[in-house]
Amino acid sequence: MFKKLAIGAAFAIALAPVASNAAGGGEQHIEDFQFSFEGPFGTWDQHQLQRGLQIYTEVCAACHGLRYVPLRDLEALGYSEDEVTAYAAGNFEVFDPELDDFRPAKPVDHFPANDGVGAPDLSLMAKARAGFHGPYGLGINQLVNGMGGPEYIASLLDGYTGHEKEEAGTVLYENTAFPGGWISMAPPLSDEQVEFADGHANDVEHMSEDVAAFLMWTAEPKMMERKYSGFVGVVFLTLLSVLLYLVNKRLWAGVKGKKKH
Ligand code: HEC
Repeated sequence: MFKKLAIGAAFAIALAPVASNAAGGGEQHIEDFQFSFEGPFGTWDQHQLQRGLQIYTEVCAACHGLRYVPLRDLEALGYSEDEVTAYAAGNFEVFDPELDDFRPAKPVDHFPANDGVGAPDLSLMAKARAGFHGPYGLGINQLVNGMGGPEYIASLLDGYTGHEKEEAGTVLYENTAFPGGWISMAPPLSDEQVEFADGHANDVEHMSEDVAAFLMWTAEPKMMERKYSGFVGVVFLTLLSVLLYLVNKRLWAGVKGKKKH
């Protein structure tokens, strides 16, 4: 009896937030984009990361910083040392306390921070936000679809409805992915805003996906290494289990065998 009550209570507690969450009216819509880096064997699409960097540089950097990302890490996107040096010097200036002045950025510097309009830093955004939630406490959605940080960012950039309103002097834009439905960031992307050297599609949806992939990379540049060591770990543990099973069999063979006589 007590057991039944306990189970009932546990269910009630587990399900309660779901009900209240649904009542909260968050009709958040997160598109489940298929990113190349998903799944245990997924890898980065270097061309996509390069396009994402270009979008960040030409559009998002005006308001958002990437303060935790060292510029030299861009070599991982397939750029040479010289290209990274040219990119850093050509796009960013950093304050150098020794010179007491600004100078062109070098690969050893980080991307600059940008607190100008109160836009959050994007370095870790793909891991700070989740696209898929609940059911609360169970995390089944997250187990199946992952955390969905990049999906959230892509859906956010592609989720403007075109409606806007003014509230206490701030213009808010209706967005289907943003919790609460109204965000103070004006739609940053429009079709054909950025021209890619490889002529890749540059409509809002594709650009949203590319810049979201790039922001996943800034948040977790070592994702492939992590997956690889995880894979090695699983193979190693599987072999170890087989060996331990055989050793166990052998050690007890004498004892277990005796029973038959
Ligand atoms: C004109 C300035 C401006 C530009 C350009 C801009 N943003 Fe924003 N962004 C903001 C502001 C301001 C906020 C805070 C909005 C809020 O919390 O209501 C924000 C918030 C965000 C958020 C966080 C949303 C959340 O869940 O809190 C993300 C992600 C984001 N921007 C991505 C981007 C990307 C990617 C680009 C480039 C394609 C971009 N932004 C371009 C001003 C800008």
